[in-house]
Amino acid sequence: MTTPCAGTVPIEVVPTGFALGAEIRGIDARKPPPPEAAEALREAWKQHLVLLFRGQTGLSDKELIAFTQVFGPLQEAPNSDVTAGFGSFADVPPEVTIISNIEVDGRPIGALGAGEADWHTDMSFIEEPPAGSCLYAIEVPPSGGNTSFTNMHRALDTLDAETAATVKDARCVHDLSLTSTGSRRQGIPEVADVRETPGARHPVLRTHPDTGRKALFLGRRRNAWLVGFEVGESERLLDRLWSHAADEAHVWEHRWREGDIVLWDNRAVMHRRDPFDPATRRLMHRTQVKGGRPY
Ligand code: OGA
Ligand code: MN
Repeated sequence: MTTPCAGTVPIEVVPTGFALGAEIRGIDARKPPPPEAAEALREAWKQHLVLLFRGQTGLSDKELIAFTQVFGPLQEAPNSDVTAGFGSFADVPPEVTIISNIEVDGRPIGALGAGEADWHTDMSFIEEPPAGSCLYAIEVPPSGGNTSFTNMHRALDTLDAETAATVKDARCVHDLSLTSTGSRRQGIPEVADVRETPGARHPVLRTHPDTGRKALFLGRRRNAWLVGFEVGESERLLDRLWSHAADEAHVWEHRWREGDIVLWDNRAVMHRRDPFDPATRRLMHRTQVKGGRPY
């Protein structure tokens, strides 16, 4: 599909052919898009949920921030007391999170290291999780570190009727004690009983505020609990929900190149990352679009 924009190169939206995601061509992220192009980008995001922009090398943090603002006001990086252990130690603006395994003087400059990040939603342990996350690839390892995305509208639409009916009005606790690679955040005790997991309790079925579509909304599998359910029953249902959400029928896997920007809708998409060789370098800068309370 080609969307013509007055006075500019038309934006091209090329769907991945999988359950979600599209590559956008004809955008230079360093330049503010004219209003028609900005509108076309927001429309494409609504429709495809994950947008890929290739070849955006050399973007500064300021330019990355301005580009992300096309999609909404930004949320500051998760570096508060509650999320300690995820914050960056390098000198970046408060809107930017460094995702990297690189260490300087024995200290990691960013979050998530080189390990696997299991399926999750970003920062959903807070009451108003970000609407989206935007990850910009500055250095990419020669292999590994692919990031996969799953379409949570599709996951809900194809969920078996019995499970869907059982969780229809349920809330789930979104654990804040662990990061997406499973390391414990500073100062948060280990969870011994999922009924005491710290973190926001959100509806399992949420409505996308921009499109009105329903989606399955899950945070992190570990330490999750369907509030009020008997623990064994909650575990059984959560295993069912997670394995269904991760079904490859709903998934698109992205293989990074330097200069890629990938923006995902955190309200209707979960993501995961493959591990990679810790002896190689991976450097990403991430921004977050502000979101509202899930309903
Ligand atoms: C994140 C994240 C995945 C990756 O930044 O929230 O999960 O590919 N990153 O590094
Ligand atoms: Mn993440």
